[in-house]
Amino acid sequence: MRRVKASRARLRAFRIEDAADVCRIYPMFFVDNAIDIKGGRLTVADADGRAVGFVLWAPALEPAWFDPGVEGWAELQELHVHPEFQNRGIGTRLVRAAIRQARGAGCEAMYLETEESNGAARRAYEKAGFRQHNRLVRYKVRL
Ligand SMILES: CC(C)(COP(=O)(O)OP(=O)(O)OC[C@H]1O[C@@H](n2cnc3c(N)ncnc32)[C@H](O)[C@@H]1OP(=O)(O)O)[C@@H](O)C(=O)NCCC(=O)NCCS
Repeated sequence: MRRVKASRARLRAFRIEDAADVCRIYPMFFVDNAIDIKGGRLTVADADGRAVGFVLWAPALEPAWFDPGVEGWAELQELHVHPEFQNRGIGTRLVRAAIRQARGAGCEAMYLETEESNGAARRAYEKAGFRQHNRLVRYKVRL
């Protein structure tokens, strides 16, 4: 897919005034993360005072059972960019910021899960340095 035009959006920490913008991008954000957000770090991409994208990561509280030997690790939990601002490099910048922050917090590794079919997300993660670690299989039985 062709890059539209690199965005000059500024990355900064989430402020409570961003809540409405975040909900416009992803309406269920505060419902999905109401319990989990403790200890997490939310960074927004600010374009002219409006939050147009965000990333949330958090340090894990349990051992990395899927990667023995890794002690302190973090999970990238949410990454969203408003459709009007996609394909301008904002998602990749947000992922890079999350990686930097987690490294600075002393985490040894960061993990995330995404759908195989989510080409844009996978491209943004891989541009920021993520590499496939393992594969999950979703089973189903008709009831
Ligand atoms: C995933 C998402 C955050 C990416 O944000 P973004 O700002 O568009 O990301 P970037 O511009 O940094 O990079 C996107 C890359 O994917 C590419 N791309 C876009 N659509 C694509 C597709 N269908 N298949 C493959 N690559 C695609 C772009 O060309 C770009 O790569 P390039 O820089 O080499 O040209 C955004 O698409 C989004 O919010 N999606 C909905 C929410 C979501 O799926 N979040 C991830 C959940 S795990």
